[in-house]
Amino acid sequence: MKRVGILTSGGDCPGLNTALVGIIDRLGRAGIQPVLIRRGFQGLLDAADGQDCVLAVEALDRARAHHQGGTALGSSRVKLKGQLLEHAVQGVDKLSLDHLVVIGGDGSLHSARRLSEHIPTVAIPKTIDNDVAATDLSIGFQSAVQTAADAIERIQDTAASHGTSFLIEVMGRRSGFLAAASAIAARADAVVVPEASWSLARLASCIRPGGVIIIAEGSWCAELGAGPYVAADGQLGGVVARARDGLTTMVAGVALRTASLGHTVRGGEPVVADRLLASRMAAVATERVLAGSSGFCVLSQGQVAAVDINATQQGRRTLSPSELEQIEHLLP
Ligand code: F6P
Repeated sequence: MKRVGILTSGGDCPGLNTALVGIIDRLGRAGIQPVLIRRGFQGLLDAADGQDCVLAVEALDRARAHHQGGTALGSSRVKLKGQLLEHAVQGVDKLSLDHLVVIGGDGSLHSARRLSEHIPTVAIPKTIDNDVAATDLSIGFQSAVQTAADAIERIQDTAASHGTSFLIEVMGRRSGFLAAASAIAARADAVVVPEASWSLARLASCIRPGGVIIIAEGSWCAELGAGPYVAADGQLGGVVARARDGLTTMVAGVALRTASLGHTVRGGEPVVADRLLASRMAAVATERVLAGSSGFCVLSQGQVAAVDINATQQGRRTLSPSELEQIEHLLP
């Protein structure tokens, strides 16, 4: 029987389990029980070292997992190239895999493409950042927008009640999709995104008692000093604290507070739209696996389809000029 491995790689997000369950269900109809690989690409490295990395299919409560956040398989941020790639290929051999399905974000899709030169591989994009090239939507984005908008609206209640003004930091790495969509959905006063220039003076003019301003974590302006704010472990964060320090004297008399939504937006149940996207992507990926195809990534470009995985290798997607135009009224 064909041995199909499935793994999730990179930061978790809502909808990963929906995609996983969708693939298992569809392979099951074809009489195939997949090999569920834990800890992303780290699982392949562990397999090469003779360690157990497989989650038994029976151990997964599929009815529950279908709408559960996170990933039942676990994940890691291992990138495969050079010796690590060779080692992972050894893991693939140890597991006797004939085909691999990788569910991951931009970095993971690069690793998947490299792996596809050694083992038939099909990929599915996921990320709350929505920054994978060539796809309008990645699994997890729509849920993260919902969570972020809900959180912003709660802060708006407090801001309005106390006449306080909030700067709210939202994840998204170097792209402003999540910040822009949640700002529109919650009707924030302004949004700062990495794709558009801004200054503290322009931002100060958007601040009002009771208002909220959304700042994407990857945003930066020269007045803030050296930046963007990459922590020792390579993660972004802290732009709202820096911006508040710079703004305090400019908006004297306004109580200015900060909040960072952080990982809150990565957790929780996938919204229905994400469940449908994940299920559709799972269906197309499974079709490709059953057809024996390799080097494909499932994308959403108006409709869900599988395309050459190289289409996803053009660098991270950012807000386009027309997408920036749509939020022009919110840009400082
Ligand atoms: O790529 C998803 C993401 O949540 C980014 O928005 C964020 O910059 C990063 O991952 C955080 O990563 P970690 O969970 O490793 O701190």
